[in-house]
Amino acid sequence: MKSPQEEHGLSETGMVKSLPPEFDSSPKEGLRIAVVGKGGSGKTMVVATMTRVFASIGNLRVLAIDADSAVSLPYALGIEVDRTVSDIRNQMIENPQARREARDRHISLLISDILKRGQGFDVLVMGRPEGPGCYCAINDLLKYGIETFSRQYDVTLIDCEAGPEQVNRRVVSGVGIMMIVTDPSMRGVRVAGSIWEVARKDEQLKSTHVGLVINRLKAKADDGLIAESAARMGLEVFGRIPEDENVEHWDSAGRPIIDMPASSPSVEAIRGILRAVVPGRLSL
Ligand SMILES: Nc1ncnc2c1ncn2[C@@H]1O[C@H](COP(=O)(O)OP(=O)(O)OP(=O)(O)O)[C@@H](O)[C@H]1O
Ligand SMILES: [Mg+2]
Repeated sequence: MKSPQEEHGLSETGMVKSLPPEFDSSPKEGLRIAVVGKGGSGKTMVVATMTRVFASIGNLRVLAIDADSAVSLPYALGIEVDRTVSDIRNQMIENPQARREARDRHISLLISDILKRGQGFDVLVMGRPEGPGCYCAINDLLKYGIETFSRQYDVTLIDCEAGPEQVNRRVVSGVGIMMIVTDPSMRGVRVAGSIWEVARKDEQLKSTHVGLVINRLKAKADDGLIAESAARMGLEVFGRIPEDENVEHWDSAGRPIIDMPASSPSVEAIRGILRAVVPGRLSL
């Protein structure tokens, strides 16, 4: 019986063999951070700001992945993206020639073709998830390609869809850190709780450090109730990010928030959270 890969004219082993020498396929323990949470809680802002913080260190290879089909990370990073992983998928579905290309060239190389480069970081946009029909083999292949590809980086940051769906579908399996972002509303905390419920039961996330990030705290607001709910759920609080008028100004002017002053309260808070949760020797 044919394997799903063969079914689609894609030979897994063939592709592994054709991995070019400049691609280091040895499993590298790069840091992978996924950012999840309720819609509008600040996931993209957090990922964009973490990207800038890691990029500013200077000697790290940093990859920012927009895994949200409502693409917005590139704008926050000031990058124009013309092709997405979903375009590769569609091409492979529709075009046998493209499928052959995926077989002859390593899938990681196809992914690197659509990569955009920023200052000190690269950006990969996933685009829309699979359309009608089951293209499991192609999706598995892409997942494999992205995993292989992200091994080239010291740090990979993933901006996820709102809600628990991508945790459910294991899009983020194996990440080292998962940040669940919430605004200071109880609704946000409930969504955070539903994501935490899925994450804590997932075998593939059992060594992932999961924690809550409370965003948009007003100066005098008390987050005691939120911290209490988190404690009741057994969910660690990674830290807090204040309401930052720079974010609002930059966003409403359509300027990439990555260009905000480094002294902006949100940038400082996110740097502080990373210092607390990133293991090891990064000088953040
Ligand atoms: N700390 C903050 N201070 C002020 N405004 C903020 C802050 N964090 C986020 N915002 C604003 O909140 C809005 C939502 O932020 P963002 O787009 O990052 O959320 P999201 O979780 O990625 O949303 P979506 O679920 O739609 O992808 C934006 O308009 C952003 O400017
Ligand atoms: Mg977003």
